[in-house]
Amino acid sequence: MNISIFGLGYVGAVSLACLARDGHRVVGVDIDQAKLDLIASGKTPVVEEGMVELMAETAGSGRVSVTRDVTEAVHATDLSLVCVGTPSAANGSQDQGAIVRLAHDMGAALRTKRDGHVVVFRSTLVPGTVEETLRPILERESGKRDGVGFHACFQPEFLREGSSIRDYDKPPFTVVGAAAEAPVAALKALFGHLPCEFHATSIRAAEMLKYCCNNFHALKIAFANETARLCEALGVDPFEVMELVCRDTQLNISRAYLRPGFAFGGSCLPKDLRATIYLAKMRDVELPMLGGILPSNRTHIERAIAKVLESGRKRIGMIGLSFKSGTDDLRESPLVTLAEQLIGKGLQLLVYDPEVQLSRLLGANRRFIEQHVPHIGSLMCDDLQDVIGESDLLVVGMNDAHTVRMLKERVQANQIVLDLVNIGRRDDLRGRYIGLCW
Ligand SMILES: NC(=O)c1ccc[n+]([C@@H]2O[C@H](COP(=O)([O-])OP(=O)(O)OC[C@H]3O[C@@H](n4cnc5c(N)ncnc54)[C@H](O)[C@@H]3O)[C@@H](O)[C@H]2O)c1
Repeated sequence: MNISIFGLGYVGAVSLACLARDGHRVVGVDIDQAKLDLIASGKTPVVEEGMVELMAETAGSGRVSVTRDVTEAVHATDLSLVCVGTPSAANGSQDQGAIVRLAHDMGAALRTKRDGHVVVFRSTLVPGTVEETLRPILERESGKRDGVGFHACFQPEFLREGSSIRDYDKPPFTVVGAAAEAPVAALKALFGHLPCEFHATSIRAAEMLKYCCNNFHALKIAFANETARLCEALGVDPFEVMELVCRDTQLNISRAYLRPGFAFGGSCLPKDLRATIYLAKMRDVELPMLGGILPSNRTHIERAIAKVLESGRKRIGMIGLSFKSGTDDLRESPLVTLAEQLIGKGLQLLVYDPEVQLSRLLGANRRFIEQHVPHIGSLMCDDLQDVIGESDLLVVGMNDAHTVRMLKERVQANQIVLDLVNIGRRDDLRGRYIGLCW
């Protein structure tokens, strides 16, 4: 394939070298003449393991050329990878100056190009940038429509400095955000041979994914480091602990707990987090990330309260009360907190939870209810049909098959369903559907 690469920093230079190694003809473009001169003479513009040898090898292949001329590069190639920098501005926002300027130049180049072209944005971009900023510039400057005269798409880059050639050859996955099939097919032809999954998605999801992955990495590092600071204060070996944490691939290093839904609660997570924070406080250890978890969870409950209040509905039916399906444990259930708040706001509440039979509650669970929501017994209703029939808004906190079937059968067009648990296919649900944060 004939490929142009814009921005020859870590991402662009490594991509140029690897694509040329793999037999493609590559045109490198940068505004920095020194980088172009280095590449033209078979030298690497970035310090990366393996790049010195790879650049020397590709220089001899005759498949690499460089230019500062955007039009020349666009006209000579079928597909462009845009890898210019998107650094932080002073206020923390993303500085898109370089990529916006480049989009103007590429748009102008497309105006005079007869054949189609695929523009692949690989720089990290805040969600919405391609569709709201870059695509309009390309369309305006080229006088052509995305999807007709050219294709704009987004492919997040996952390589890491220090191991970038290895990461190029074995990425965690390839993800292409596109609005049409043609750019997906072009990128499959280019990267489909790599030993990883290939996923096509929307442009915005692909943009968001890159942030999500980096935030997750940062979160994991901060978690390991906060754990180590607490371990040090307690005389525990943090390496031993974190090694064992990673050994659990069922609950720890797994898909578990990574599905958006309602707040957490129950008899363990909140109390153990509180005890952890207290331990740290007693030993003057700062744990801002762990300390932020309970407030974050509280914010999630407040979002549900706000959505109920915004609806203006007064007769509320709550489906689910225990902290998760399949248990009658009400201790620190976020649904109990939600119920308390709604009652406090003067709303009329009916509650259905087949697992929770107050007469059978014992011990700590019973004490919790007696102390926290003594009046909840009078709000409990055994019959889901009655709860659905007598409510203007249903708060759905359970997604078992029976509940979902009943909602689909019984909910009327004038009712609202506020879904806290992602009940799945909603198209056959009458009534207005509101997701908690989706
Ligand atoms: N570095 C990484 O490990 C990494 C990994 C994944 C994603 N990313 C993302 O990829 C993008 C590039 O990162 P990088 O580390 O390679 O950046 P970098 O700063 O090393 O390189 C950017 C290059 O773009 C060039 N440039 C600026 N304006 C240009 C223009 N108008 N035309 C052509 N070239 C231009 C600069 O001269 C520079 O050589 C960023 O959005 C970054 O967030 C980086």
